[in-house]
Amino acid sequence: MKALLCENFGSPKQLMVRDTASPTINENQVLIAVKACGVNFPDNLIIEGKYQFKPELPFAPGGELSGTIISVGKNVTQFSKGMRVLALSGWGGFAEEVAVDANRVFPLPEEIDYLSAAGTLYNYGTSYYALKQKAAIKSGETILILGAAGGVGLAAVELAKLMGAKVIACASTNEKLAICKEKGADFTINYLQEDLRKKIQEITNNQGVDIVYDPVGGLFAEPAIRSMAWKGRYLVVGFASGNIPAIPLNLALLKGCSIIGIFWGSFAEKEPIESLKNMGELVNWMIAGKLKQHRYKIYSLENAADALQDLLERKVIGKAIIKIGDWVEEQIEKSIQQSIPKQEPIKNDSNQIPSIFKDKSVLKDHIGKNLGTTAWLKMTQERINQFAEATMDFQWVHIDTEKAKKYLPAGKTIAHGYLTMSLASHFFYQLISIENINSFVNYGVNKARFISPVPVDSDIRMTASIQDVAELSNGAVKLFLNCSIEIKGQEKPAYVAEIISMIF
Ligand SMILES: NC(=O)c1ccc[n+]([C@@H]2O[C@H](COP(=O)([O-])OP(=O)(O)OC[C@H]3O[C@@H](n4cnc5c(N)ncnc54)[C@H](OP(=O)(O)O)[C@@H]3O)[C@@H](O)[C@H]2O)c1
Repeated sequence: MKALLCENFGSPKQLMVRDTASPTINENQVLIAVKACGVNFPDNLIIEGKYQFKPELPFAPGGELSGTIISVGKNVTQFSKGMRVLALSGWGGFAEEVAVDANRVFPLPEEIDYLSAAGTLYNYGTSYYALKQKAAIKSGETILILGAAGGVGLAAVELAKLMGAKVIACASTNEKLAICKEKGADFTINYLQEDLRKKIQEITNNQGVDIVYDPVGGLFAEPAIRSMAWKGRYLVVGFASGNIPAIPLNLALLKGCSIIGIFWGSFAEKEPIESLKNMGELVNWMIAGKLKQHRYKIYSLENAADALQDLLERKVIGKAIIKIGDWVEEQIEKSIQQSIPKQEPIKNDSNQIPSIFKDKSVLKDHIGKNLGTTAWLKMTQERINQFAEATMDFQWVHIDTEKAKKYLPAGKTIAHGYLTMSLASHFFYQLISIENINSFVNYGVNKARFISPVPVDSDIRMTASIQDVAELSNGAVKLFLNCSIEIKGQEKPAYVAEIISMIF
């Protein structure tokens, strides 16, 4: 298997992609085929040999990942081959396979895609614990968030807003602050250009802030604590600036405020039930679309070292993710071959553009226009079963009709999210046909969101429009389509995505 290996402690530049042996598992571990791995601040500290633990060399960094189970140790009963999971591995995630202790692995709900899953636990888990358990944040309170466009900072912006607080986001560039605004910040402060204390006084009418969330440390800690309201809570989250500030303790006395340490890893270990409860709440918010992490960039394993370097250089806004392998394309391709009969393109209404194009070169004339809506397609149990067989993913929610009657809210099995996703390719060929080309492949999916599960026997159809067309130097065309799959009788769509196709 391939892995990005750290062979000597140092900077990201010395990491190398190598072919290496698959990890072996002990009786309490599982082996995971990694689909995606989040990039986190400690990854850089670990490869520099500056973290709380030092793995034995050589090792791959990457402590937060999603994937599927390949095999399980003999004491592991809660997981089986093929299950979708997310895991906190400490390190080892920048690789095609990783061995993880089963108690650090969690089932991944099918509504959450692998890329989102790989960037969830660490940032949202930390910030939710800090705001809920440690700050006991109340609706209407004012929170100042330092490093607000970073991983944990931006998660804190989203969560504090969701929990009813007034959010003041601080960051070093206006570009970063614009993203904080998009995520719900009420006020922003560029702490490299503006006077932090003066700005806080202005925004809060001299009342000060109730909570400070500080993952940065350094120079801003003291002005922040001096700007606190009576009974404030100062959350010590991290020291991204590399500088642990020394705070005069008389400030805590004068302000009547608490200085509270946050250590999410220890919380998860020492209070596992509370921590799981938090995770459940976060997952529900994600499924409901209330939390959506800002993704800076998706990197491949080959350029994963660049992701670590970008994080070091303060370029990353929100989360950087490493995608391991070409798994989306495989899923789509497989399901087309398995279960989809080929259909003729349908005719569109007169106000839509033609679905048959005489040549790929004319596509760009139709950017922004609607391609139309397909015919309805029934999501039969047979189709769902075929998909389970093709993918070896036999989760009971899809195939066990008796259990579904008993335990699922509608009493019906539901289609795998990836089945719905792969049907987008099938629908696609109903909406568009291009003459005089050599080949036409659906090659990727961007910004995919699984919004409503599709129950068995419901009817679904797709609407699509041309979002963009890029002409490549080799004569090929890259086509970006905005697609939405709806369920008959339901307001919310099942799936929305940007589908990318290559036409030669
Ligand atoms: N306590 C816990 O349980 C816990 C859990 C997770 C993370 N953490 C800690 O929280 C801190 C932030 O983690 P993160 O994942 O949010 O990291 P991140 O994504 O890299 O964000 C850190 C932010 O800090 C700011 N910053 C200021 N000076 C910096 C410097 N010299 N180098 C890098 N960034 C600098 C940057 O924002 P600007 O450019 O806008 O200033 C950056 O966006 C880290 O120290 C991490 O170890 C603690």
